[in-house]
Amino acid sequence: MSAQVIDGKAFAAGLRDKIGEFATAFEAKAGRKAGLAVVLVGEDPASQVYVRSKGKATVAAGMNSYEHRLNDDASEEELLALVEKLNNDPAVDGILVQLPLPKHLDEQTVISAIDPDKDVDGFHIINAGRLSVGQEGFVPCTPLGCLMLLQDKLGKDLSGLNAVVIGRSNIVGKPMAQLLTDANATVTIAHSRTKDLPAVVKQADIVVAAVGRPEMVKGDWIKPGATVIDVGINRVAGAEEGKTRLVGDVDYAQASEVAGAITPVPGGVGPMTIAVLLRNTMVSAYRREN
Ligand code: GUN
Repeated sequence: MSAQVIDGKAFAAGLRDKIGEFATAFEAKAGRKAGLAVVLVGEDPASQVYVRSKGKATVAAGMNSYEHRLNDDASEEELLALVEKLNNDPAVDGILVQLPLPKHLDEQTVISAIDPDKDVDGFHIINAGRLSVGQEGFVPCTPLGCLMLLQDKLGKDLSGLNAVVIGRSNIVGKPMAQLLTDANATVTIAHSRTKDLPAVVKQADIVVAAVGRPEMVKGDWIKPGATVIDVGINRVAGAEEGKTRLVGDVDYAQASEVAGAITPVPGGVGPMTIAVLLRNTMVSAYRREN
């Protein structure tokens, strides 16, 4: 049996349309557009692509995009001064500092300098704390996007379902586990030190794979009918010499024979991240205006 494909690209497009409607209504109410500031330090090619797509999507949704670029030898003082300026700028509702930063800059120091109420990435420890105690704040975009896809498929209430999150990063694994717990799933966080990972995954009605290892999760690890969310985006050598292709953390060909539903790579979780970033920015704009 072949799994249903969870079309994150289509879901994200629908979400972006809805955000566009909110953006129009916000502009009429507030007399200004909502605004997202994105800061890029250095020339990392992948980061440049991400930042460009974020800027384009922001403008397409009817918001202002403010792009700030600093040289890769920018000092911490220079970056912190820019963050402070954006914190105090009333036209800016959301601030995102693109990661990774060059090695001489401490990411935690920089993230901690962002006003938590403009931290649309949800990376500030205040927002991590708010999520863990159930207070209103900002939730990191990728796990929130995964939850939206899951709830669209399975319903809001995940009571009685076993979820396994593979990966314990601050950006995906930990907030994902928190969100699933809040939705009443029974959650296991698995990681590189987990014993007999295939057996742990086999118990799961919901699998979220966020480890960054190409095609690590095999088809025979998956419980028949499970819903599989693949957060991985890994570039590997393609069939033809010199060509590459993108694969997830799940062996898609195998897993889609066993799962009930599965996100593809590309076109699954990836497009959700930017859509949720726009959503968080819109939420910030409304909160700040009220
Ligand atoms: N680098 C890769 N993904 C992200 C993201 O979602 N936010 C930030 N700030 N940097 C990233």
